[in-house]
Amino acid sequence: MTGAPAIVVLTGAGISAESGLGTFRDTDGLWARFDPMRLATPEGFAADPAAVLDFYNARRANARNSGPNAAHFALARLETCKPGELLIVTQNVDDLHERAGSRAVIHMHGELARALCAACGARWEAPPVMRPEDPCPACGRPATRPDVVWFGEIPYRMEEIAAALAGCRSFVAIGTSGQVWPAAGFVEEARAAGARCLELNLERSEVSDRFHEVRLGRATDLVPAWVAEVLA
Ligand code: OAD
Repeated sequence: MTGAPAIVVLTGAGISAESGLGTFRDTDGLWARFDPMRLATPEGFAADPAAVLDFYNARRANARNSGPNAAHFALARLETCKPGELLIVTQNVDDLHERAGSRAVIHMHGELARALCAACGARWEAPPVMRPEDPCPACGRPATRPDVVWFGEIPYRMEEIAAALAGCRSFVAIGTSGQVWPAAGFVEEARAAGARCLELNLERSEVSDRFHEVRLGRATDLVPAWVAEVLA
């Protein structure tokens, strides 16, 4: 992408909810059923790598068996109609934006489809099932982990994201609870830079007050309607 995108869209688990992938903090969400400190921290991985890999193997399988929904497709259509003007920053580790056709996507929390060597930092395509004894293809050590960002780790590509937020005219957050930083602070950065800020979510988030406008409803209704407005 050359120059700053006019529109930055931040997506969270809520955009993939209607594809059948669970959110984290809803009543039946992943973090209500699983302990994030055991399954999404470097310490949890060091204590029980098999449990952590199993958790992500199951999520990888769920993502593979689901598909993009109308909200993902609407964002892909927006990019096609306005090439170079849209950047999606997603907290999601699934690949539903790409499978809908989006190309300008930053996975700030990593991707289920990628593996990372905790020993040497090499990255490669994750097999469907990762096991603790799998050797790293670069250094050979059995230290492979999913290439996802855990609590206590720094999200990816933060400089690029900051530059995009500083230069955009419009910031839209979709399906995210605003409880996890630094993503929860993006609205403040975009607003300070003069962008109009819109939240599309099932319910008000922790940071709804910071947006110029909040629309409540399902992503599959709200996102296609908003895209139609932008393209009208
Ligand atoms: P959360 O589970 O915290 O929030 C999901 C949001 O989506 C909530 O505000 C819901 O109201 C909303 N939602 C649910 N269904 C929806 C629908 N059909 N349409 C629109 N909105 C809907 O998920 P995130 O905000 O994405 O990080 O969580 C952020 C990060 O916390 C994740 O990336 C993950 C997690 O811990 C890591 O694992 C590092």
